[in-house]
Amino acid sequence: MFNNFPLWPERASSVAGNVDALFIFLLIVSGLMTLLIFACLAYFAARYRYRPGVPAEQIEGSVPLELTWSIIPLFVFGAIFLWGAVAYFKERTPPADATEVYVVAKQWMWKLEHAEGQREINELHVPVGRDVKMIMTSQDVIHSFFIPAFRIKQDVLPGRYTVAWFRATKSGTYHLFCAEYCGTQHSGMIGSIVVQEPAQYEAWMNGGSTGPLSASGEKIFAELGCVTCHRNDSQGRGPNLQGLFGKSVLLEGGRSVTADENYIRESILDPGAKIVNGYKPVMPTFQGLVSEEQLNALVAYVKSLSETKPGQASSKASATTDALRLKGNQVE
Ligand code: CUA
Repeated sequence: MFNNFPLWPERASSVAGNVDALFIFLLIVSGLMTLLIFACLAYFAARYRYRPGVPAEQIEGSVPLELTWSIIPLFVFGAIFLWGAVAYFKERTPPADATEVYVVAKQWMWKLEHAEGQREINELHVPVGRDVKMIMTSQDVIHSFFIPAFRIKQDVLPGRYTVAWFRATKSGTYHLFCAEYCGTQHSGMIGSIVVQEPAQYEAWMNGGSTGPLSASGEKIFAELGCVTCHRNDSQGRGPNLQGLFGKSVLLEGGRSVTADENYIRESILDPGAKIVNGYKPVMPTFQGLVSEEQLNALVAYVKSLSETKPGQASSKASATTDALRLKGNQVE
């Protein structure tokens, strides 16, 4: 309809329609309220204007009127809140089976690495209809990952991971922007998201992979000597990492933490921050020894140790027994 006069960027993700609907609803409500207020203003200004010889009337308050203008807006705002909250949580919670892409932002480019091993700069290829989760960090300052056509925007911070996800619904090439002022070339920190039909995407994927990210991680894990302490049994000086990812970990002092990307990252860079119950704080820091890309590979490797192998029971069904086994491993 608006081909030559685009009011909105293209809608190309599963959440875009709902985000726009909410935005249009807000516009209509605010527009109607503005009209109502100005209409009342004009009417009352005329109706109660000063006339010579006519004394001013004293008008008492009206309970029904006050209840009306309190209760109706309460429901309208309640609806806006609920609608927004549901949309927000949907946009903030990546589906469990999403394909993962690691994003490293730096002044002034985007480095993207697929879990399958493909690396890209300022460009991301994804297939139509697949959930894609981005695990993002920055090498220097704060950046922001913004794809208007998908209606997603997420700050990318140094020193930790933030997450965003989308499901593209339409093939095409869409703008990627940095939406946080990050230095002189900020406006040049742009890229494109190339959404392809699944067959095209397969063809692209098959061209030049360096092997899965988790495999590079396994190599780094061996090179840095991590394997000497993190053994696959309970005899190591550090915790066994098999099946760790996504589980709750009991820490020294009785606290628990969920083993997510940020926990693994912190445990590599600042091992003393969270000591697993029953272990000694003997691990050295790897701050400055591993690059952001190597960190991502290590995280991908630790995650891969929790993936269900064919023939095993589904990870959800055996989560409780895994958690029990994990606990048994940690308390020596
Ligand atoms: Cu990166 Cu602005």
